[in-house]
Amino acid sequence: MDLVSSSSPVGSLLNSVDQQHVYIAGTAFLVFALVAAVLLFSFRKQKIDYNSGIFTYLKFIYASFLKPHEKGDGQQDALESFYKTQAGVYDATRKRLLCGREDMLGLVAAQLKHKVESKALRHGEAVWVDMGGGTGYNIEAMSSFLPVDSFFSHVYLVDLSPSLCDVARQRFQRLGWKNVSVVCQDVRTFRLPEVENVDPRTKISTTTSGADVATMSYSLSMIPDYYSVVDSLTSLMKTSGILGVCDFYVQSIVDVSSRNYIGGAFNRHVNWLGRLFWRAWFDLDRVSLEAARRDYLEYRFGTVISASERNYLLGGIPYYIFIGCQKDLVSSPAGNDAIEKLDASFTESPYLSPANHRQEVEKANEQSAREIRSKAYESAIINLDSNLPLPSAFYQNHHYRIFYNDLLPKHTQFGNEYIYAFNWEDPRVDHRLLNITRDDVILAITSAGDNILDYLQNSPRRVHAVDLNPNQNHLLELKVASFIALGHRDVWKIFGEGKHPEFRQLLVSKLSPHLSSQAFQYWLDHTHVFTSSYGKGLYETGGSRHAIKMVRYIFKVFGLESEVRKLCEAQTLPEQRAIWPRIRGVLMSRPLHWAVVGTEWFAWKAAGVPRNQRNMIIDDYYKRNGLNQNMEQSKDVSGKSIWEYVVDTLDPVVQDTMISNDNYFYFLCLQGQFSRKCHPAYLSPRAHVKLSSPGAFDGLRIHTDEINEVIKRITPRSLTIAVVMDSMDWFDTDGVEASSQAQTLNYALKMGGRILLRSASIEPWYIKQFEENGFSARRVGARFPGTCIDRVNMYASTWICTKTKEVERPCTDRAISSFSLDEKRSSVDHLEL
Ligand SMILES: C[S@@+](CC[C@H](N)C(=O)[O-])C[C@H]1O[C@@H](n2cnc3c(N)ncnc32)[C@H](O)[C@@H]1O
Repeated sequence: MDLVSSSSPVGSLLNSVDQQHVYIAGTAFLVFALVAAVLLFSFRKQKIDYNSGIFTYLKFIYASFLKPHEKGDGQQDALESFYKTQAGVYDATRKRLLCGREDMLGLVAAQLKHKVESKALRHGEAVWVDMGGGTGYNIEAMSSFLPVDSFFSHVYLVDLSPSLCDVARQRFQRLGWKNVSVVCQDVRTFRLPEVENVDPRTKISTTTSGADVATMSYSLSMIPDYYSVVDSLTSLMKTSGILGVCDFYVQSIVDVSSRNYIGGAFNRHVNWLGRLFWRAWFDLDRVSLEAARRDYLEYRFGTVISASERNYLLGGIPYYIFIGCQKDLVSSPAGNDAIEKLDASFTESPYLSPANHRQEVEKANEQSAREIRSKAYESAIINLDSNLPLPSAFYQNHHYRIFYNDLLPKHTQFGNEYIYAFNWEDPRVDHRLLNITRDDVILAITSAGDNILDYLQNSPRRVHAVDLNPNQNHLLELKVASFIALGHRDVWKIFGEGKHPEFRQLLVSKLSPHLSSQAFQYWLDHTHVFTSSYGKGLYETGGSRHAIKMVRYIFKVFGLESEVRKLCEAQTLPEQRAIWPRIRGVLMSRPLHWAVVGTEWFAWKAAGVPRNQRNMIIDDYYKRNGLNQNMEQSKDVSGKSIWEYVVDTLDPVVQDTMISNDNYFYFLCLQGQFSRKCHPAYLSPRAHVKLSSPGAFDGLRIHTDEINEVIKRITPRSLTIAVVMDSMDWFDTDGVEASSQAQTLNYALKMGGRILLRSASIEPWYIKQFEENGFSARRVGARFPGTCIDRVNMYASTWICTKTKEVERPCTDRAISSFSLDEKRSSVDHLEL
């Protein structure tokens, strides 16, 4: 359609002007505008800085996307052609593009500080090489974590681009740092001065000489012969050296799904379109994003920490951070010894020195029909035999988190969510019933880890914390790392208040050396839990948050918030009892229970009560009321039975326990955080002193597996206590799991060893299975209407099953790899490393 018709006055005017005149007029206008702009700039008093403002970005765009690549001789010319024009604006334009550099430096610095604290390194003696260091940004940025000029004896920046090296030299001149050398050289040929004149064919001892740290940020993806550079790093670095890398990548999860040594695949997958787009885009600038670079790094080094992130500010470019160490950590006899020692501590086996391995194995075999090996040991043997690095758990500073395969469906079924952000079992009662001593070897379910921390205060010889949900164990690890690395003030903020605005910084710079790679990845992705200004922080996370949030919402809608506050502040039981009826009237109203609380959906999704456990509650109700289970009644009765269960739980709690200063479980549900007067014992300053003392967690082992799988691999008759909480309620009444668990527990426990369990039923069906399998069972707590069994009062009964008889060893179906069955291979003496 013609917008200006030729019949209109404008149209006829345009028709009358020759096309050529239009072009001339347009060109004249552009020339005039250009001359005016030049005059304007030349008359301006101050000099124009072409390395700032809009020019920064114009130069960056020109050099990166428009400027043709000059044909030159080798990589240096190619690099110069790319960097010469933009050397002056490099730092300003890369701040946002090269994301993660500060995190990588923070993680490296945290590892170095940990080495200094554990006396493996001395302040002022470390050597650092920044490979492809560019303008020296990293070295200056490191000063926010460590005093570069005094911590390092020498820092080398190696880069092939002369113009970027010039910028770096100016930087260190400005900073006045005398211990930094800028070396304009290809990283493939760089050697530290002390080994420079040595024949490259000679093997140099890396135990004492070499770099303590090597870093590469966004340079590996620019180096064509990356194999040779990665290989050269192994001889550049000391045996105890640390490698920090940060770079772009693209990869499919399929590539890594069979690898057990990458330290967790959280967030690693980049979809097909992303893989195609980012590779093609960066290819324009000769930056290679193929997966092999990261893969090769992970193959040549042991993974200490690995994380996959996205730079969302620039469209979600995938990048990774890798903190590694020499993979051959275990090639020495001491390394073998370490694996054996660890295995012994995972399984409670006697430690057999490799020196007398054969002899001692024979002796041990006499006692045990089969050799007990941890899954971690088996995977280590397989990896060593295939010349692969060990699973990352072996390279960590602490060995409490035991290797597990995070890609197994039994773990991925939980998504990235823990169910419990805090424990729902009263450890005060556990202590009273169990009387934990220094000789105890305890196996307990992790849950949120609160009770594990409680038991550890009595210094038992060993605590095996077990959970199938990896995220529950990540939570326990975070607690443990916080006690090791932080003061009481920070621990209180994170776990008392559930919020800490500086959580991310603490995670990177203080907690990271004490976390497994998987736990670090998890918390790096969940920093918002503690830092977000919305919501209630930690205690409004996890699967059970739905119930807590709903209750708080109901209080708001019914205007009960001030009543609830008063309930949490009441100083005497009569005061508390007087406030309760108004809140109770709403919370326990029959319509609410009929519509929400009594439903199966609510029980599982919001309160974490699985179907089998809910059925036990309903069965008890039938028995109590002399009903028989016909279908007509059951629909109505199930709602009623849950309602009664909730009444039996809550009424006695308000009657008999002080919410404001003793019952921290309900205080937390109502307030969303603990208070200085009302909190678990592990958050007290006294417990902090105990738990932050050196070696406080030496006896802790965190297993990510089913309880049965863990017990099967524990040396017979080594446990003294097993705390299985209400986990047996989850089993099917028709299945064999309960019976098989009772058998394996019998086998793992010492004579006289005890199992502590809780149940939603007053008379759990599986007690019979314990009695049939060598236990004498005693109900040590029962909740009858109107009474409190403990401060939580959530379970109908508590039981202690004591082992009184040995039963025959269950026939286990555990799959032992061919490696662990083959005597020659299973012995680390025979491995060629
Ligand atoms: C994207 S820049 C990163 C610079 C710096 N690491 C940073 O994070 O700001 C990549 C650097 O690698 C350098 N580089 C590429 N290939 C190299 C090689 N073979 N030897 C030394 N340096 C190289 C480039 O000159 C460039 O400075």
